[in-house]
Amino acid sequence: MKTELLTVNPERPDEELLERAARMIRGGGLVAFPTETVYGLGANAFDPCAVMGIFSAKGRPSDNPLIVHVNDMDSAARLGRVDERTRALMEAFWPGPLTLVIEADAGVPAEVTGGLGTVAVRMPDHKVALGLIRCSGVPVAAPSANRSGRPSPTSAAAVLEDLDGKIGMILDAGPTAVGVESTVIDVTGRLPLLLRPGGVSVERIREVAGEVGGSPGERGPGRSPGTRYLHYAPAIPVVILDRNGEWKKDPRLQDKVLSVAYVGISAPPLPVLVEIRFDSAEKYAGGLFSALRELERSGAGVILAELPTEEGVGLAVRDRLKRAAGRMERRDA
Ligand code: TXA
Ligand code: MG
Repeated sequence: MKTELLTVNPERPDEELLERAARMIRGGGLVAFPTETVYGLGANAFDPCAVMGIFSAKGRPSDNPLIVHVNDMDSAARLGRVDERTRALMEAFWPGPLTLVIEADAGVPAEVTGGLGTVAVRMPDHKVALGLIRCSGVPVAAPSANRSGRPSPTSAAAVLEDLDGKIGMILDAGPTAVGVESTVIDVTGRLPLLLRPGGVSVERIREVAGEVGGSPGERGPGRSPGTRYLHYAPAIPVVILDRNGEWKKDPRLQDKVLSVAYVGISAPPLPVLVEIRFDSAEKYAGGLFSALRELERSGAGVILAELPTEEGVGLAVRDRLKRAAGRMERRDA
């Protein structure tokens, strides 16, 4: 399959280009498109065949459910049960990087929900994504547009790197702003549960929803199937720089001490071949995935990564780095 690459203006997307992409979605094809977090790989959420195409293009385990992207709250309410608390969260954070897991309407295909009886919904804050959903006239199921297990794509070039020849089209609107994926909150229980930290901080969610249960690493089994799989791993190993100096004993660093790549906020603690540094947790989030992809190409044998503090989007950056390093008990896809 030839993958068409269309350049789109992120602020004023051309209607004709959106219509071309929407025709592909309506015809059962796959279109990679930008959101404010990362690029997504979209298909018509009500076309089980098209949705299955997403799993085969990504090499994704088929029991890992997908987020359904909508362009307004009413469309979300047609996919599942939106109670008062859920609506308050939508009103506070949509459009934006918050995904809500709600009880699914019986009409949502099992290919989308993983047969869980719940569906994840989100309204992205990006004119190209919203325009594509509007022109398609259907909700758009979309995971991140990477090969399963790889760092998520924050540019069209990263999508091409992973999926060239496997999907119909990529809408290129430049690099994404937030850089880490949406925060996923399960609102089907008494307490909202954090399934994945992301672009909206838990602190801000608490301001609207009150207490939030669960934290990364202590998720109940089966709540978010994606947490079982390897995720975000670049082609070379990632070692976490921790305060107690455990990293110094890592044999991979001993062997490759002359070819260490570094990513973090502070200065690296040893001489390195190449370093990428950010001056805030927000910028770290914004550049994390492209940094991992760049460092794996640098000729270094290992990536040493500093964790930011847990405040704000720092929690999401820590989560992604720990998963990339294989440090989480359970893994995401
Ligand atoms: O920012 C984002 O969320 C991006 C953009 C494209 O919107 N999408 C994204 O999708 O990161 P994906 O598939 O890479 O991650 C979705 C996560 C997975 O961990 C999945 O297991 C979880 O959401 N998820 C989806 N539906 C779920 C459900 N019904 N119950 C529990 N977890 C669910
Ligand atoms: Mg993903």
